[in-house]
Amino acid sequence: MTRRRLLGALVGAVATAIGVALAVPAMAFLSYPARRRTVYGGGEPIDVASLASLPDGKPVRIVVTAPERRDAWTRFTHVTLGGCWLVRDGGDVRALSTVCPHAGCAVDWDAPTGAFVCPCHDSRFSTTGERLSGPSPRPMDALAVELHGGRVRVAWQRFKTASVKKEPV
Ligand code: FES
Repeated sequence: MTRRRLLGALVGAVATAIGVALAVPAMAFLSYPARRRTVYGGGEPIDVASLASLPDGKPVRIVVTAPERRDAWTRFTHVTLGGCWLVRDGGDVRALSTVCPHAGCAVDWDAPTGAFVCPCHDSRFSTTGERLSGPSPRPMDALAVELHGGRVRVAWQRFKTASVKKEPV
């Protein structure tokens, strides 16, 4: 082997090593979202109302908004997660998702009959969320509630529809 060919092979080997050393972390960086959970924020209990503002026994519809959410490299603020009904019972508060467990329509409150009603296929629920009638396969989905210092916090979550089991999506 001539000196020129030896030098050429050496330069080629060094260039290949540098290329691999740069490519591996670059590929890891670019494929990062595909390998990991990328959405952060919004799963924790979020402040939605003061306890004093909720009338006893009368459902109040509120919108749960996450102050911040991250998806891969993007940061969003004030992200609307969904709605829920808050039902105060003395010093306790129950949070029921507005998403109907049947097919996902928005469940409304029907004051004259004192029941939650889904307008799509007429499922009806009590103020505790129990199914009274209609095709819904389960009660309204209760959400985790925290009461702290006179404030109400709700952990908003979406669940599979058309299923007897309450499974998070
Ligand atoms: S979507 Fe609510 S009853 Fe069908």
